[in-house]
Amino acid sequence: MNHLFDVYSLFDVVPVLAKGTRIWDDNGQEYLDCYGGHAVISVGHCHPEYVAAVKAQLDKIGFYSNSVQNPLQKELAEKLCELSGLNDYFLFLVNSGAEANENALKLASFHTGKDRVVAFHGAFHGRTSGAVAVTDNPKIVAPFNSHHNVTFVDLNDAEAVECELSKGDVAAVIIEGIQGVGGIKIPNDQFMRDLRELTKKHGVVLILDEVQSGCGRTGKYFAHQWAGITPDLITMAKGLANGIPIGGVLISPEFKATKGMLGTTFGGNYIAMAGAIAVAEIIKEENLMANAKAVGDYILENIPDSPKIKDVRGRGMMVGIEFNCPIADIRKALLYEKHIFTGVAGNNMLRLLAPLVLTKADVDIFINALKELL
Ligand SMILES: Cc1ncc(COP(=O)(O)O)c(C=O)c1O
Repeated sequence: MNHLFDVYSLFDVVPVLAKGTRIWDDNGQEYLDCYGGHAVISVGHCHPEYVAAVKAQLDKIGFYSNSVQNPLQKELAEKLCELSGLNDYFLFLVNSGAEANENALKLASFHTGKDRVVAFHGAFHGRTSGAVAVTDNPKIVAPFNSHHNVTFVDLNDAEAVECELSKGDVAAVIIEGIQGVGGIKIPNDQFMRDLRELTKKHGVVLILDEVQSGCGRTGKYFAHQWAGITPDLITMAKGLANGIPIGGVLISPEFKATKGMLGTTFGGNYIAMAGAIAVAEIIKEENLMANAKAVGDYILENIPDSPKIKDVRGRGMMVGIEFNCPIADIRKALLYEKHIFTGVAGNNMLRLLAPLVLTKADVDIFINALKELL
């Protein structure tokens, strides 16, 4: 009997080995990974420096609680501030994207003393209580989660945002750097700048959810940096430690920390820190943000024209190929016939969230496979 709670639709593949952009299953079949385990694998599978750092940490000390000094946390905070250019920000460490968003929402509410949040249609911020309340998907909101004070407005509609903020009771606006689950929707740069102005004007906290679009994926450390704005709180997770559970909130110096206001048992643990520090170093040393952008542009330029394809959009290693028809069969054929992992958004979009080390030669393999299937 299978005792696992049956909530996932599973492909019939058992990965047992991986290296860079390649995965092998239990029959020795090789696959190209254009999905990165849902944007998690940033520096490539089993990167040797990353593996060595995590193994070495386990040999030294695997865990202690947040009641003692942990220099690895300070080192990671310094590296993330340097990579993002947010030199005077502070870091709070957690274990997942949803938890990062929970804590950002809580901080915004502490900071302003208010409890209403403005979020966007199509948004996905996670499945825990507050995070799911600001997610635009009634299917995953249980009655228990539905009591939060949230208003959804359209992406890129600055007037609608201003209308809500001018009511005076809003603690935060939360927005993804690029909507991922919602279908690779890039908020336009001017809208992001308007949002920054409006939130400042009304004393509302601007939370940027970079859980999927951050960690260098779009060619800048955070996707919102393409619009040249600086949010108050930035949440991150997926690509941060290449597969070890981790999340973080980068916090502007205007926020005041009081002892005990936030906390977690596992957040900031030694193994995740060793992994995340190694990832930050590899991203810098191997110039992976530039690679992500260049190879992402190459994907956008080379998707074939086809009556079946409606639109192609994205930035760096975050690309959506929107079809005029459901893509479940194409995705299955890519996996079972062409041995390529891809993701989806909704019914009609193939979503590519490849490791940042993807090469143009890898893209050629994907493009040729797609052409054959089309
Ligand atoms: C933009 C965004 N925010 C938050 C989350 C939730 O992250 P986690 O699954 O680590 O809780 C996700 C997950 O897909 C996401 O894409």
